[in-house]
Amino acid sequence: MACATCHVWVEEEWFARLPAASPEEEDMLDLACDWAPTSRLGCQIRLDPTLDGLIVRVPRSSLLSDA
Ligand code: FES
Repeated sequence: MACATCHVWVEEEWFARLPAASPEEEDMLDLACDWAPTSRLGCQIRLDPTLDGLIVRVPRSSLLSDA
């Protein structure tokens, strides 16, 4: 966890169902552009069957190109 390029906005209904972010993830999110209250690092979300249907959105600032 060293780049925050995986920054995503988690849909509010799903955000509360995720385990809390670690202090290291919180520190990295402080550096993310377009932070929002439901921001998380995608690489830190451990998927399991209870998250089937999880909705996240990728901030435009996290895209490599607008093409
Ligand atoms: S912090 Fe770099 S991929 Fe998630």
